[in-house]
Amino acid sequence: MRNVEVRLHRDFAIGTTHPRLFGAFLEHLGRCIYGGIFEPGHPTADAKGFRQDVLGLVRELGPTIMRYPGGNFVSGYNWEDGVGPAAQRPRRLDLAWMSTETNQFGTNEFIDWCRLAGIEPMLAVNLGTRGADAARNFVEYCNHSGGTALSDLRRAHGWEQPHGVKFWCLGNEMDGPWQIEAKTAEAYGRVACEAAKVMKWVDRGLELAACGSSGRRMRTFGQWEETVLEHTFDHVEYISLHTYLNNYDADTPAFLASCDLMDSFIEEVVAIADSVAARRRSAKRIMLSFDEWNVWYRTRRDRRSRIKQGWPAAPPILEEVYTVEDALAFGGMCISLLNHADRVTVACLAQLVNVIAPIMTETGGPAWRQTIFWPFLHFSRLGRGRVLRTQVDSPTYAARYNDPNGPIDEYFALPAVPYLKLAAVHDEQEGLLTLFALNRSLNETFPLAVRLGGFDKLALKQAQQLCDPDLSAANTKHQPDRVRPASLPAVKVAGDRLEASLAPASWNVIQLSLA
Ligand code: AHR
Repeated sequence: MRNVEVRLHRDFAIGTTHPRLFGAFLEHLGRCIYGGIFEPGHPTADAKGFRQDVLGLVRELGPTIMRYPGGNFVSGYNWEDGVGPAAQRPRRLDLAWMSTETNQFGTNEFIDWCRLAGIEPMLAVNLGTRGADAARNFVEYCNHSGGTALSDLRRAHGWEQPHGVKFWCLGNEMDGPWQIEAKTAEAYGRVACEAAKVMKWVDRGLELAACGSSGRRMRTFGQWEETVLEHTFDHVEYISLHTYLNNYDADTPAFLASCDLMDSFIEEVVAIADSVAARRRSAKRIMLSFDEWNVWYRTRRDRRSRIKQGWPAAPPILEEVYTVEDALAFGGMCISLLNHADRVTVACLAQLVNVIAPIMTETGGPAWRQTIFWPFLHFSRLGRGRVLRTQVDSPTYAARYNDPNGPIDEYFALPAVPYLKLAAVHDEQEGLLTLFALNRSLNETFPLAVRLGGFDKLALKQAQQLCDPDLSAANTKHQPDRVRPASLPAVKVAGDRLEASLAPASWNVIQLSLA
């Protein structure tokens, strides 16, 4: 049996996780909003139509910030359509998802829902079909206190107090040919800069994210970030990144290795952002907003062409059913985010309900947790604090991973993937140390030994494990608890040493309390 050994020290930290690292995403897409969080007439719906069963699961899951209203949807959206008396709101064709948008849910409803859920709202402006003027008007409608036409319009609509939305995305995936009015980096950089300027002139307190690449696979990756930041550096705080992992090749080891490409992507974007800063001799550091991340492939190709004809409203699209294997790859992504807490200070799981989501619902029926619900809950609930540097000595394996959704159709070689992927988070306030450990071996149990430098008098608080002999096991309406974490047995803590046994293909969370 081979060992995996980890060394860490209390004094050596990568950074502290920002509360916004644990965000998620609600898009006007399929049944994410309609039939997801909002379903007037549902037995659990409140007077505003918000499903309380879903809200309960959202509170349990613990996302901290919520991106809205898209995604691809935002590039054709008129924010004005979603405010004012619901009966007078227009029905429109949504070209992003070939659906009919009824606009019965809009910005004010979103803000109300966020407040109920205890989540910070994040809004995106349309830089596809629209530009700086619509963006600044949207900020004025939301955030200006009153005494102007747009702020008084909000008040007349029933929201007396300004929404105070701080975090705004300057469009979505503007590098992607699938985007409504996609742009070159030069054209996007110009409009993003001008939009950012006037949005901040309306509200100085805003924090803005420029669009980075839709994925590392994009032909324009690298050049895109550089050009966009050359235009926007002085006006934005963030650049965005998106990643969706896949297992099209039915190659589980490669799938579980692919989250390591997320580490590379982050480090490359940091390097580019810092090179733009260096050319300016600037001490400013652009932070990363990983505002779409997840596993997504089975339902990925049903966009546009495969969507039902007839412009349905809220069709059941992108309803990925997640397996144990997906939860493991997903857990690996959580570890990648934690281990870059110094520069990734915002991240949004895409998405929240029904659409590539940890929560599923039946319209008119129940709601349940998908497999990926569990690693996200661990990440969000237990990932608060100082992420410690770790030295992981683990056997490795070689993998080849493909992302056929991107324009570059080549395999990525991953020559030395450690079987163990790990992050350690020290919550000083609560006196907790939490280890997140993914065993990527499909058949080997690894005895894990961790040397916990600088800590003494540690006691085991809890240890959980998500694994299943059937990697394709999933939760469904009929078996909502088929996959859930169990306790991880035989964890020993003595002095500054922890020992545990990590089952093959397992996600493990071990939490220690400090005396
Ligand atoms: O999350 C689903 C879609 O994926 C989003 O609308 C888009 O931004 C990305 O391509």
